[in-house]
Parts: sequence; C-alpha cells; structure tokens
Amino acid sequence: MSGNIHPVPVEWTKRAFIDAATYKDLYARSIADPDLFWAEQAKRIDWIKPFTKVKNAAFGPGEVSIKWFEDGTTNVAYNCIDRHLSAAGDRTAIIWEGDDPAESKHITYRELHDQVCRLANVLKAHGVKKGDTVTIYLPMIPEAAYAMLACARIGAIHSVVFGGFSPDSLAGRIEGCNSKVLITADEGLRGGRKVPLKANADAAAKKSGGLVKTMLVVERTGGAIEWTDGRDVRYGEAVAKAEPHCPCAEMNAEDSLFILFTSGSTGAPKGVVHTSAGYLVYASMTHQYVFDYHEGDVYWCTADVGWVTGHSYIVYGPLANGATTLMFEGVPNYPTMARFWQVVDKHKVNIFYTAPTAIRALMGAGDDPVKSTSRASLRVLGSVGEPINPEAWEWYYRVVGDSRCPVVDTWWQTETGGILITPLPGATDLKPGSATLPFFGIRPEVVDTEGRVVEGACSGNLVIAESWPGQMRTVYGDHERFVQTYFSAYPGKYFTGDGCRRDEDGYYWITGRVDDVINVSGHRLGTAEVESSLVAHAVVSEAAVVGYPHDIKGQGIYAYVTLMMGVEPSDALRSELVAWVRKDIGPIASPDILHFAPGLPKTRSGKIMRRILRKIAEQEFSALGDISTLADPSVVEDLIRNRNP
Ligand code: PRX
Repeated sequence: MSGNIHPVPVEWTKRAFIDAATYKDLYARSIADPDLFWAEQAKRIDWIKPFTKVKNAAFGPGEVSIKWFEDGTTNVAYNCIDRHLSAAGDRTAIIWEGDDPAESKHITYRELHDQVCRLANVLKAHGVKKGDTVTIYLPMIPEAAYAMLACARIGAIHSVVFGGFSPDSLAGRIEGCNSKVLITADEGLRGGRKVPLKANADAAAKKSGGLVKTMLVVERTGGAIEWTDGRDVRYGEAVAKAEPHCPCAEMNAEDSLFILFTSGSTGAPKGVVHTSAGYLVYASMTHQYVFDYHEGDVYWCTADVGWVTGHSYIVYGPLANGATTLMFEGVPNYPTMARFWQVVDKHKVNIFYTAPTAIRALMGAGDDPVKSTSRASLRVLGSVGEPINPEAWEWYYRVVGDSRCPVVDTWWQTETGGILITPLPGATDLKPGSATLPFFGIRPEVVDTEGRVVEGACSGNLVIAESWPGQMRTVYGDHERFVQTYFSAYPGKYFTGDGCRRDEDGYYWITGRVDDVINVSGHRLGTAEVESSLVAHAVVSEAAVVGYPHDIKGQGIYAYVTLMMGVEPSDALRSELVAWVRKDIGPIASPDILHFAPGLPKTRSGKIMRRILRKIAEQEFSALGDISTLADPSVVEDLIRNRNP
C-alpha cells in the first residue's frame, strides 16, 4: 500500500464548499444529533407537504424498519426538473455524447421537462398507475433518463436493467417485479457494434409468458426488428402525439422510487428498493459535496444507467442539483484510446467520475493518448466500483489530472443509494488506495468475526451502525431476505459484505468482498449465479466458481467444472461452456478461466472447500491451509497440476 499523502491544495481550501474544519464540525454534529442535521439537509429538496418526523429507523434485532421524513410528501421528478425551470430552464441538463464522435446534443431543462411530460402521458395512456413497475432496458441514450423521470413523475416504480444482460436475465428481472410495461430500443450502439436490444426484449417477453403487455421501442439505429402488433409501440410516434404537460404525482417520502436488481452471495439477484425523499436528499447532497459541484460546472460520470452509479450520479443527484450531466453512449477505447479525454476537451468537463477497471485499461495503453489532449477543464477526478490500486490512482492523478485534481475514491454500494466513505476535495488529505473518511451522518464500524467492535487501527468486516436517508429499505417482495442478508450477521448493524482496514489516522481501506460475491470490472456477480448457469449445461455435473486477481478487471472469474461421466474435456468444449454462460447471463459473466476438474475438494460431509479453490485460482499454492479434513486430499494435487496458466 502506498504511503504517499497528497495534502489538500491551498486553493482548494478556499474554493470548496467544505474545508477540513467544516468537515470535522459538521461530521460531529451529524453524528451527535442526526435528526437535527438531516432535518436541515432535507431543505435542499422541495416538499409538497413538509415532514414533521425525521428518522424512524430500527436495525433490529427483531424488527428492521427504516423510514425517513415519513409524513412528508414530494415528487422526485419535480425536484429534478420543474423547480429549475424558472431560473435555469435554458441551462443544459444533459449533454449526450454518442458512440460516434460526430454525434452529440445538448438537452436543456425545458426540453427535459417537455420530453419527460410527454413520456409520462404515454405511460399513463397505457395504463401505468402510481405504484406500478416499469422495466427499462435501454442503451445510454437520453431516453433512459426520460424514462426514469417519467416514472418518477407519475409515481411508477422503475427497474432499469443493464443493456448488457441476456434475455434470460432480463426475463428474470421483469418477472421479479411483475412489470407489464417494458421500455427498450431497436438496437444499442457501443464501440461501433450493434446490440440487439429489441430481439433480446422479445425473447425475454416470450419467456415471461405474456406478462409484458406494452413494449415501447425507441428508434436508435433504425435497424430491422420484429414487431408484435397490439403490444409494441413506437416511442417516437407516441411521444410526438402526447401532451407536453403532465402533473407531478404527490408521493409520500417513503413511496418506492426504483428497484434495482443486484447480485448477492446466494440465490437469484435481489430487487433492492429505494424510496423517494431520503434517497434524493442523500444523492443530491453527496453529489454536491463529494464532487464539489458548483453551478455551471460540467460533470461526467461514465457509468451505465443500468447500475446504481448511473441512477444516483448521472440522473438523480446531478439533476436535483440543477447540474449539467454528461451521458456517454460509447466505450473508453473507441474509436481510439484517447476517447475519454477527447470528450473531456470537447465538452469542457470539470468533474470526471469513472471506475478503476477503465483507469487500468487506459493506463495499459500508455501516456500518449492522454497527453494528446489538453484536459485543462478538469478539476476533480472520481473513482468507484472496486478498490483502486495505488499505481492506478497515481497514474490517474499525475497523468490524467496533471497533478492538479484531487482524486475522490468513493466507496458505496447499490444498497447504500449514495456514497458513504469518501474524501471531500477541499477537506481530506488523500492517500492513494484509501476511500478515506465517512461522509456526514455515516457511522462505519469495524467488527471482528465474533461481532465485537474493534477500535483504532485494525482490520475486520465493515458495518454501518446508524441509518442514513439514502439507505435501501427492503428487498422487493421479500423483507425477510433483506433482514437476513444485511442485519443477521451483526444484529443491530448494517453489514456491508466488505472487509476493510482502518489505519492510525482513521482512514478506511476497503479490501473487497468477504462473501461469495465477486467484483468483475466494478460489476457485482454472485458465484452461485455463474455456477447454476454452468450446471444447467447437459455435460456439466458440478461447478464451483471463485474470483482471482485480474490486472484489468480487478477480479476475474475462475470456474472449476466437473464433466459428466464419459465426457472428454477439450478446448472446443471449454469455449462452448464459456459462450453458454455469456449467452445465459450476459458478457460480464463469461468465465476468464475454465478449469476442467475431475474432482473438487470436499469435506467428508460433501461441502465444497471454496477456500482451497480460491487459493489455487490465486496461485497461492503454499497457503492452502489444512487439507487433511478433505474426503480425498489427492484432488488438490491434481487441481494444482492442471491449473491453467
Ligand atoms: O466491494 C465494494 C465495491 O463494490 C461493492 C458494491 O457494488 P455495487 O453494489 O455494484 O455498487 C458499485 C458502485 C457503487 C462494494 O461492496 N466497491 C465499490 N466502490 C468501492 C468498492 N470497493 C473499494 N473501493 C471503492 N471505492
């Protein structure tokens, strides 16, 4: 770990909203009296009916129930659009940069209002009511933001599904929240290649057996698609005919805003539920302070709207703050490795937020593509999704940011709604590789395996001891799973699933997941999901999947596969199985290494010893620990001998 410290530059202490002294003071106040602190912060959004109660949260043991501002009413779309119209209607809300560098457009807050109202009316005309769910399966085009906000406007709950997911994964998510309406596009465009979204959506709808009654189809490429009369609706035509005004539904603070399916250590992905007011207060506040967003700044988060980062930090946080948010359809290496930095120059981006996997991939291409651009507009750089290694951090800081821009390494999760542990650019001395200190109102604790809280410099599991407004409220349709997953390991505390180290300055260093979740290029995957896909193939008898260190992706997917009796391993079969998982779940789940294993290390009671499989995947052959309890210790030797390079 790097011991380098980058102190806050003097000019930053002057320009930033929060300097070191303010951080200390406000943080102390946020912990001492959360009700007072958050009642004050909640003024950043407009309320229809003001709240009188602030926090009402119980983390168990026993009941787990989380409510914020529970008797207030508001509308999220109103806060993200309408309230900006009188002073800033002509301000750019969204800069859209296409996959093709020749394509881009600016959408003002007034245009955003017009588009969102029209779409909201289209949804209503198709029977969507307050509390209904709408699934959104779109590429990175402005319609994705319109769709989210149109739902919010009429009180429908959206569930955005990443465009890289397969028809089966999409079908599972449509069924998982009982969506009768699906919004998609003919095709997506990424790195010059077309993604058959409508064909995938058709296959998913078929699999969901008539559940989807309406499919709204955005014309992105105009490519040939199949059409189901009576179900499919042309987005462009419908929106053009619709009224450009639509009232905002009055929503209770605790009404659901969206569901986002995310992988856990067991079972199918679960629907994380976020509600309205607390989520928006938290997304807006973190966006302003973590990125030190000032009016007029151009802000770019490179995530996809299919992930929580896209929800909180492309759409809701920035738009609630009246910001200009850039939405990029493409990929970092198309048409060249300089694309990100060319986009920064083209739109004079001030704040840039991306993932360590992208930074490492770009670092691998050397400094020249970066140095061919100016990047003079940049002021803050952000990182999210996985631990950033100090080498990548230093490169980002030195080469991309010309040693001028603070790097905010933001730790959070789909469940947390917004950033929890992070530097603030004008307040926090930076240590490369550390997410540093908690945001206001966040009470992290480190616990040992017995659940004892450990103080001072230490290592252990990361829990959060107190509720915050942006926290998820439940698992859609399964509150018991919510309680079990997050509140049973350490009763009375929210368990993050991450391990961490806290140093002598109180800085947090996230070390990664301590459960059976792997983080591939900043995307979460349950090893059980990949295993169940593999065993669904006719020739596979058993599969065990673990993560291993990967230079670019952070973690790669290592799959051990035992074949049915009589089936011979071959390279062709290996490729077939990799392609099978890719098709079944989506490209992000493709195993990087597939190891044919005649036997897996099991205890005498038949339990697979994943610890050993992890060590073999990591090539830590000398750290296998005690293998004498295995039913057949000789399988370990065989696995080591046959480990793929
Ligand atoms: O392991 C942590 C890692 O990503 C997990 C959350 O994944 P997801 O819900 O998909 O959300 C990703 C974007 C918020 C965490 O449990 N993680 C996220 N950010 C960081 C991180 N690990 C280390 N440092 C980070 N900055």
